[in-house]
Amino acid sequence: MCSSSWKTMAVALLLIELWLTIESSLAHPDKIVKLPGQPPRLSFQQFSGYVTVDYKKHKALFYYFVESETDPASKPLVLWLNGGPGCSSLGVGAFSENGPFRPNGEFLVKNDYSWNREANMLYLETPIGVGFSYSTNTSSYEAVDDEITGTGICILQEKAMQDSDIFHASFCIPGFGVTPCLQVLSSPNVFRSLQLGNPVLEFATDFNSRAEYFWSHGLISDSTYKMFTSVCNYSRYVSEYYRDSVSPSCSKVMSQVSRETSKFVDKYDVTLDVCISSVLSQSMAINPQQVSERLDVCVEDKIVNYLNRKDVQKALHARLVGVRRWTVCSNILDYQLLNLEMPTISIVGSLIKSGIPVLVYSGDQDSVIPLTGSRSLVSRLAKELELETTVPYRVWFEGKQVGGWTQVYGNILSFATIRGASHEAPFSQPERSLMLFKSFLEGKPLPEVF
Ligand SMILES: *[C@@H]1O[C@H](CO)[C@@H](O)[C@H](O)[C@H]1NC(C)=O
Ligand SMILES: *[C@@H]1O[C@H](CO)[C@@H](O)[C@H](O)[C@H]1NC(C)=O
Repeated sequence: MCSSSWKTMAVALLLIELWLTIESSLAHPDKIVKLPGQPPRLSFQQFSGYVTVDYKKHKALFYYFVESETDPASKPLVLWLNGGPGCSSLGVGAFSENGPFRPNGEFLVKNDYSWNREANMLYLETPIGVGFSYSTNTSSYEAVDDEITGTGICILQEKAMQDSDIFHASFCIPGFGVTPCLQVLSSPNVFRSLQLGNPVLEFATDFNSRAEYFWSHGLISDSTYKMFTSVCNYSRYVSEYYRDSVSPSCSKVMSQVSRETSKFVDKYDVTLDVCISSVLSQSMAINPQQVSERLDVCVEDKIVNYLNRKDVQKALHARLVGVRRWTVCSNILDYQLLNLEMPTISIVGSLIKSGIPVLVYSGDQDSVIPLTGSRSLVSRLAKELELETTVPYRVWFEGKQVGGWTQVYGNILSFATIRGASHEAPFSQPERSLMLFKSFLEGKPLPEVF
């Protein structure tokens, strides 16, 4: 299994109720004057740079902060984190999901459904070793785990309060090293709410829902489905894989599954075309037909090219330390992947108990973390917490079309699908994703009619 298949399995998004001090940030050294190729005349400011996260200043996390398009001083601050572990919130989150721009050749094209229409967005590359975040001592990249990721962010939280004129924020990340942070987390005046997109909440349930998804979408045969649910299921394969002990039976099942699903189908959105030049891993002229497509399936290659430009790195105040190139997902981190097996659903439960609203959403075309697993886990959690259904399962609208389905428990735990969306939902359904984001941010129910 290649490491990129783990990209963004969990997107944690924290909404923080703290205002920004915009005036004092005007002359800040982290202010971005202009990103190469960006549209002229922007109505918002951008900042990026480093926050050191150790006492000796050998480790630093890279952030990209985008002010809200309108009235930033009264808008909430949202911290966006991509999962992986080890994938970049800058490259994936900001430049292909919900940031203000998407790279296209020399230019940055404006995203009309950027989430900075509704909030001040803070994208953090974490832990060290991801994207432009670095440590000057590469032995820090060994045995990185959720605890280290979480601790780094806790330190960042203190630093952000001390050093930064840009955002006076105090935050922490659940799901990644939550133990040192739980106290901060449960303080409702710091966090307002949490959204998780196509997350791994409980590894066996999430991973094993893949077989049924493949089968019901016609990606595997009846006989392979049977083997994938009886001989070797996906959670068993992953467990064996991370322990370096894949059994012959699992190996046989997985090669059959891979052969039938084909590498020319995007597992993060089974209806989307693939970027041919990426799949074949060689630079090939992009099929001209793709230019007129609604979605640019080759956006990842363009992001890699853009963020590796020297002028772009200079404009972003970014440095490459210990690596030659910026990559979407880190290949230098030696992450403790068995952390994956620790359930995060219980953390979601404690947040709800302390009064923090949680939304779990699913792009419904994702086969990697399918909606079926998330939906049953959320429903199970609601039962455990004895939360009654407050919004029965129903459609929600964006414009005149159905944006997806939703159910709410105890007015605090929400589940929603985004119809036609991929694993990285705002990438393939930007309009619907923005509607969901806005409604949740404002604490309003999703539109029931059009
Ligand atoms: C790098 O980190 C390792 C492990 O933490 C430590 O033993 C070593 O002394 C460090 N090297 C430098 C040059 O700081
Ligand atoms: C997956 O396989 C493991 C090990 O064989 C087994 O314990 C578990 O019950 C299986 N899960 C499902 C959903 O089939």
